[in-house]
Amino acid sequence: MLQLKIIIASTRPGRKGRMVGDWFATLSQQYSEFKVEILDLKEINLPDMDEAAHPKMMQYQHEHSKQWSAKIDEADAFVIVACEYNHGFSGPLKNAIDYLYSEWNYKPAAFVSYGGVAGGARAVLMLSQVLTSLKVVPLSDTVTIPFIYKFIDHDQQFLANDVITKSAHIMMQELIHWTKALKDMRSSILTTSINP
Ligand SMILES: Cc1cc2nc3c(=O)[nH]c(=O)nc-3n(C[C@H](O)[C@H](O)[C@H](O)COP(=O)(O)O)c2cc1C
Repeated sequence: MLQLKIIIASTRPGRKGRMVGDWFATLSQQYSEFKVEILDLKEINLPDMDEAAHPKMMQYQHEHSKQWSAKIDEADAFVIVACEYNHGFSGPLKNAIDYLYSEWNYKPAAFVSYGGVAGGARAVLMLSQVLTSLKVVPLSDTVTIPFIYKFIDHDQQFLANDVITKSAHIMMQELIHWTKALKDMRSSILTTSINP
């Protein structure tokens, strides 16, 4: 089974990110191709990057780095639940990305973004640029949620409308294609490097 990690990028008190992430995790569990796990950066609570060696060396000194490495290494695909702060993505997400290198390589990332009128689209553009430096393949089909506060009910649950739900299914179908293709690609890269 393919491993899908849903990364929740916001960590502040009162954040909406977890509500959006919980909704998307429930929706993605309809796809039997994936085993789904939420990686909530608030719970994971990584300190500011504190490893001396470049992540390419994988010489992690700290237990939190080793645990984060293991989680990203076992992933076949990512969905990043991205808030938008000042036209960019969150600081905790950049920190979590920078901890690792090879663990991200040749894996697809899809995005569920939210915010004001732009629905987090500017954060996704910035995120895509950063992720390609780690050989992550960012998908062009995204879920974009403008005016996030309109979709939160009295029980603090995210309630999607039909347009958002449809875009989520389109994105999931695209993610399945890329996840399978890149998993094959990773295994052939591994075989080639063992038997050049
Ligand atoms: C520091 C800060 C900066 C923000 N900047 C933007 C922005 O540039 N564009 C936008 O659409 N919304 C912006 N917002 C509004 C957020 O999209 C909204 O608060 C959203 O709920 C943030 O995600 P979170 O609740 O998961 O933290 C900003 C919010 C904060 C707290």
